[in-house]
Amino acid sequence: MSKKSTILIFLFSFTAIIMVTSVTSCKKLFPEMINPEDGLCGPVSLSSDQTILFSAGNDQFFATRTTATGLGPYFVATGCGSCHSSDNRGHPFTILTRFGQTDSTGNKFLAEGAPQLGTFALPGYTPEQIPAGATSTKLIAPITAGVGFLEAVPDTEIVNMAIANENNPDGVRGHPNYNTVPSYVTQLNGSSPRADGKYICRFGRKASTYNLFQQVAQAYSHDMGITSSYLPVNPYNYLDQTTPPIASTPEIDNTTFYSVVFYVTCLQTPLQRNATDATVQRGNVLFMKIGCETCHKQTLTTGYSPIAALSNQTINPFTDLLVHDMGPGLDDGYTEGDAKTSEWRTTPLWGLGLAPGVQGGSVYLMHDGRAHSIQQAIQMHGGEAAVSAGRFAALSSSEQAAIIKFLQSL
Ligand code: HEC
Ligand code: HEC
Repeated sequence: MSKKSTILIFLFSFTAIIMVTSVTSCKKLFPEMINPEDGLCGPVSLSSDQTILFSAGNDQFFATRTTATGLGPYFVATGCGSCHSSDNRGHPFTILTRFGQTDSTGNKFLAEGAPQLGTFALPGYTPEQIPAGATSTKLIAPITAGVGFLEAVPDTEIVNMAIANENNPDGVRGHPNYNTVPSYVTQLNGSSPRADGKYICRFGRKASTYNLFQQVAQAYSHDMGITSSYLPVNPYNYLDQTTPPIASTPEIDNTTFYSVVFYVTCLQTPLQRNATDATVQRGNVLFMKIGCETCHKQTLTTGYSPIAALSNQTINPFTDLLVHDMGPGLDDGYTEGDAKTSEWRTTPLWGLGLAPGVQGGSVYLMHDGRAHSIQQAIQMHGGEAAVSAGRFAALSSSEQAAIIKFLQSL
């Protein structure tokens, strides 16, 4: 064997070792902040080819984008991992802002750069500002672990959960969020549109995004200013430009893009800890009894997925993927699809107990991180959730503690 090929083999093995460790490492960003046991970046069971693709996506997800790799001119963060640092809940430090849509007639500030605010700008450009008269909302990153399983839940199951609420005595209603799906999303996973051409959407705080492919395309474009063949035009900032920009050569190629979609799709679900603890079990029973589970559905079943590990699986996400009216306290004055200003998608509760480990010891819960403990998050439940939140408040302190301990085991 020549010296050159020995070196090549050595380099190849070295790269393979790095790739395999990076699959489970999840520590590209803030390594000193995250306890490895709190990270949720591991994959479902994959073939070796799929593992290589997942690993490539993992590297891209935690990579930092710069001007050399297409960042900007306007952006909110420099990589997926800046906001989704451990694939669990994000930190208010990387909160993003949307503006300009107050009702179902559409966004009135598209000519002023809506919907998303480019908080930062490269040198020579002006950071975007919210135009006068536009209402805005702030959102922190939701958990990404397990999203591939949520994508594989059939539309029919979501519709059935809404039907089951029709006569709910607590006043829980909830409906799927139907929204327009952009034309670059061509894989419609067997969904049928409503008469007005809108589809059931399920990702994002108001469930306004159809699937993970769309979510990733929007993230590259709106969060980082990186063009793809799907969204080839950089967001527009009227403060800098007199005419909207035109399509550029994509700053991320389709293969790299797809590896990131594959990475998030194949993230394992968070697994419950201390499930056999007596207090945790008592808390689980009480959680059901006081009506939390009407929205935070403990068990869902996935349908067919081309990725075998996601197909026909029973999962425990604690969401119904519906949007609910949460009352005036949580009204943000911003709409998406059919979701009104006070409506939010039931947040999946899996991974909740790991949040302090990745949010720096404190927790930042609800859509904008306004709740600093699980108790506060429950107190903020109004609207359709007011009855069950009232029942929580009426429990003895040991019963409340059992529910909290149960939620911390998720
Ligand atoms: C600036 C912070 C930020 C960056 C950067 C970012 N995200 Fe997000 N991500 C968010 C927020 C906030 C939401 C919720 C958006 C909404 O409510 O519409 C979200 C939603 C998601 C979801 C849907 C989760 C769910 O259950 O609804 C996925 C998946 C996701 N992001 C993946 C990515 C990927 C992949 C990248 C990189 C290409 C990325 N994100 C970059 C903040 C960010
Ligand atoms: C009517 C449906 C509904 C009911 C009933 C309900 N929730 Fe929620 N829950 C939601 C929605 C929607 C959100 C997201 C609100 C937001 O982001 O502003 C949420 C958010 C949460 C969060 C914050 C999660 C996070 O990661 O930010 C916790 C914790 C929670 N709920 C626990 C409970 C408990 C405990 C009960 C029972 C006392 C309960 N919920 C009853 C719909 C409901």
